[in-house]
Amino acid sequence: MSDFEVFPGGLLTGDINVPGDKSVSHRSVMLGALATGITHVSGLLEGEDVLATIAAMRSMGVHINGPDQGNLTIYGVGHGGLKQPDSPLDMGNSGTAMRLLIGLLAGQNMNATLIGDASLNSRPMERVAKPLRTMGANIQTNEGCPPVKILPINHGLNGIHHDLNIASAQIKSAILLATLGAVGVSVIDEPGVTRDHSERMLQGFGCEITWARQRVSFRGGQKLVATNVHVPADISSAAFFIAGAAMTPGSEVRLIKVGVNPTRTGVIDILRLMGADISIENEHVVAGEPVADICIIGTKLQGVDIPHELVSLAIDEFPILCIAAASASGTTSVRGAEELRVKESDRITAMATGLQKLGIEVAEVPDGLDIHGGQLQGGIVDSFTDHRIAMAFSIAGLISDGKITIRDCNNVGTSFPGFLHLAKKHGLQVRVAE
Ligand code: S3P
Repeated sequence: MSDFEVFPGGLLTGDINVPGDKSVSHRSVMLGALATGITHVSGLLEGEDVLATIAAMRSMGVHINGPDQGNLTIYGVGHGGLKQPDSPLDMGNSGTAMRLLIGLLAGQNMNATLIGDASLNSRPMERVAKPLRTMGANIQTNEGCPPVKILPINHGLNGIHHDLNIASAQIKSAILLATLGAVGVSVIDEPGVTRDHSERMLQGFGCEITWARQRVSFRGGQKLVATNVHVPADISSAAFFIAGAAMTPGSEVRLIKVGVNPTRTGVIDILRLMGADISIENEHVVAGEPVADICIIGTKLQGVDIPHELVSLAIDEFPILCIAAASASGTTSVRGAEELRVKESDRITAMATGLQKLGIEVAEVPDGLDIHGGQLQGGIVDSFTDHRIAMAFSIAGLISDGKITIRDCNNVGTSFPGFLHLAKKHGLQVRVAE
């Protein structure tokens, strides 16, 4: 188990390249595997979560070369070409891998069991199993959680008209992947805007799909044709440096070629509302996804009431936004963010507990928290085995007046291998504890 230690006094500077986008990486492996032909992926995130997706596709007979420096070659097996796995598919820590795979396998007429680590084994899976059963899938969960068993069906799946009661790209994507093997059209209505990487990539693989104003329509039975995918740098990883620099006067950084899909840029909007100096440069589109350089000059931030409509657009960035809020003058309030309780950890409790240990006044409510900005002190905090909690409290070293020790940071490698090295290189006084 490795702990991180971060010392006060750092500033972030320089041009920073963060690894590839996790969401786009998972989808490129899954769609490449199901396509007809050879898909070349570049910029792939070689984090443990994506490696779990690659291993799962390999154990269902997909030949994949790599990853090698972000390059992956996938020899697609085509519609109906997956073979039944001989043993359970271990999705490790990854909710995205598990939920999307449940959708992808729902109509494959095979037996498959999906398992995960302790964190994933406590996360809700009925949210995907239920709509997929309505489509005709035979899926069992363990009291709502993994292991998830996918059982053969002796009839095909049908499209579904589904009203999502949670703004979740994972549920939406699971239904879309199941629809690939279904008869009829699926129409999905979302209560809030969520990331549209599946929609964009399905289009890139030659499918017809429409989405606008929180409604997606997708006709079943369409075939995927192999293509080349370039994965942009992950804005959720960049966010640690964006927020870190934004809240530290004297910091000045540029994040290079980051994915700025408008369904993911809530973190920039929220930090700007807090007074951050952030500019976007060199915006262009690569393989269907907008990409840009993000430039930040550090300043003192102010607390805000985070607008509800920005919550789903920044859902993975709340740990680091909580650190920014702790550095700000006044109070920052988050509401409508109950989904944070079922991420890799309960991120509301994880951030409230850690910030309180560092001397910040925080009030927790069921769907959010109020953070009263102040001076962070040193102390020992728990990552709750959550990669984003570990990285958020590491960045907190920039604004603390004493050493912070963050317990159990092994899972940083699920989304951001090399975080420690990169953060150190650009000015964070961080190291692995002895
Ligand atoms: C993801 C969607 C989000 C996000 C997760 C990745 C995806 O989850 O938190 O890290 O790739 O679709 P929900 O859609 O369940 O909110």
